[in-house]
Amino acid sequence: MSAGFFITLEGPEGSGKTTNRTFIAEHLEQQGHQVVLTREPGGTELAEKIRELLLAEHSEPVAVDTELLLMFAARAQHIQQLIRPALAAGKIVLCDRFTDATYAYQGGGRGIDEQRIAVLENFVQGDLRPDLTLLFDLPVNEGMARAKQRGRLDRFEQEQQTFFEAVRQNYLARAEAEPMRFRVIAAQHALAQVQEQLMPVLAQIQAQVQRG
Ligand code: TMP
Repeated sequence: MSAGFFITLEGPEGSGKTTNRTFIAEHLEQQGHQVVLTREPGGTELAEKIRELLLAEHSEPVAVDTELLLMFAARAQHIQQLIRPALAAGKIVLCDRFTDATYAYQGGGRGIDEQRIAVLENFVQGDLRPDLTLLFDLPVNEGMARAKQRGRLDRFEQEQQTFFEAVRQNYLARAEAEPMRFRVIAAQHALAQVQEQLMPVLAQIQAQVQRG
């Protein structure tokens, strides 16, 4: 294999992304691929430290631009240290969240103009874009209820329903605008049914990777 393949997983809190990423990674490994499983914000030692800053509560309000720039600071580190080298080595990179999350959360949720996000996207990523994005979509109240069951809520999980509605609509609009890149998975179903929806997507990945 010469060129790698870049897959991102997106969706709101409680959408089952994290459970399903293991399923996807194991499946691809069984097919003989080398898979690098990673996440954003985070994925390297320094980027994980930035993640801690982003998810923690602070004694002062976090300016939306600070949040946006920290997301891209973590991403710059992650791309340089991990994503680009893995792709150059022909691996499949499976990343739990990437820049679509910035459009959905900082754009849709926080209200930052998407043109400003696009400037940073081009600056930090150059021509790097995901080859395929799986959007785990589910009604906001179901996602929030699942997230609450997990225990202590981080700075994002403490947001209100209207914030998550905006996040969801932004994700869905992005999926509609780029149907070739996105596959929308109906994530409100039981795990077995969600994984059934993933099987044709996994077959498609196999075919695309083989084609190079
Ligand atoms: P999670 O990985 O546990 O879902 O937590 C990461 C949080 O960070 C999640 O609430 C979404 C948020 N986030 C953004 O707001 N913008 C981004 O660009 C990324 C990657 C994540």
